Amino acid sequence: MQIVDVVKKFGETVAVKNVSLSVAKGELFALLGSSGCGKSTLLRMLAGLESVSSGKILIDGEDLAQMPPYRRPVNMMFQSYALFPHMTVESNVAFGLKQEGVQKAELKDRVHAALELVQMARFAKRKPHQLSGGQQQRVALARSLVKRPKLLLLDEPMSALDKQIRQRTQIELVNILDSVGVTCIMVTHDQEEAMTMAGRLAVMSEGQIVQLGTPHEVYEYPNSRFSAEFIGSTNLFDGHVVEDEPDHVFVETTELPCRLYVNHGITGPLGMPVTISVRPERIALTRKPPEGAYNWGHGTVANIAYMGGYSLYHVQLDSGKTVVANVSSLALSEIESPTWGDEIYVRWSASAGVVLTA
Ligand SMILES: Nc1ncnc2c1ncn2[C@@H]1O[C@H](COP(=O)(O)OP(=O)(O)OP(=O)(O)O)[C@@H](O)[C@H]1O
Ligand SMILES: [Mg+2]
Repeated sequence: MQIVDVVKKFGETVAVKNVSLSVAKGELFALLGSSGCGKSTLLRMLAGLESVSSGKILIDGEDLAQMPPYRRPVNMMFQSYALFPHMTVESNVAFGLKQEGVQKAELKDRVHAALELVQMARFAKRKPHQLSGGQQQRVALARSLVKRPKLLLLDEPMSALDKQIRQRTQIELVNILDSVGVTCIMVTHDQEEAMTMAGRLAVMSEGQIVQLGTPHEVYEYPNSRFSAEFIGSTNLFDGHVVEDEPDHVFVETTELPCRLYVNHGITGPLGMPVTISVRPERIALTRKPPEGAYNWGHGTVANIAYMGGYSLYHVQLDSGKTVVANVSSLALSEIESPTWGDEIYVRWSASAGVVLTA
């Protein structure tokens, strides 16, 4: 599936700005971004519910705009997946096929296969209100898949589920989609959900894709402050480049008592303002002053959030900046669990930081 330079304008508002994107057959792709950035609009254009202002959407090389809506091999599962409340599970799944005029015997087989796939066959005679949220979700998925779309669109598929069922359903859904081999584009606010489910994801901001890659690439190598903060949480240090070599860069900052050091070079002039992103799990706490002339800070423990297997330490540095460190319980026991108000050092390695120039 190809999206080629697609623009969508609503009067003065440009909701989608020159988006181009290729999604491979069978791929599970996620669109992420804050509210109003154009995710649903892009999805609606793919579904044919909204026309494009300019650009093209191709499925198997065919331009979607040239296809009447009923011929489009696309199915969208909506934010609220609204099953028909008065119909059984079976009838809900059969509904679309009936409308297409599929023969009775084939219809029965396909509905059964779809319900088997989502492990809901034994609930075929129940009504939606007799099912849990996660089960309803699976019926909605069966209803979407039974029509054998080439492209399945999911808009916030888990938004109706609470956190625990969500996590289980995410994995179930990925397994089902994998086994069917359908190409799938999902929209979500929830970065953890996108990272769990998608093979690749795009971070959108103000109608544009700002970064695209695997969850690992986007998390470990964000290309901008926006991506770094949107995908996961991070510590950002502002400064300017004072030494730039192919294998390292030194950055001077007023936020630390020392320079920042990153073990890769950048392209840009000396003196260029940059931001260094360091993920909380890359930051270690020590009681003793760190050795070495870079990548450390001194401050006091301002807050501790106990999360079970790890704790989030908020350390207020002498510069006034707050640094968040994700410290495992094991690491904590080795430094005698610092508490509120304790004096502490933070430090990180040369490979922990990512230089952001945008
Ligand atoms: N029919 C419309 N007429 C005018 N403006 C619209 C219309 N639909 C969407 N917009 C605008 O286009 C922009 C993108 O909206 P869209 O619904 O795509 O956002 P979204 O990324 O899905 O947000 P959310 O995460 O809140 O669902 C917003 O500024 C919105 O106000
Ligand atoms: Mg939306």
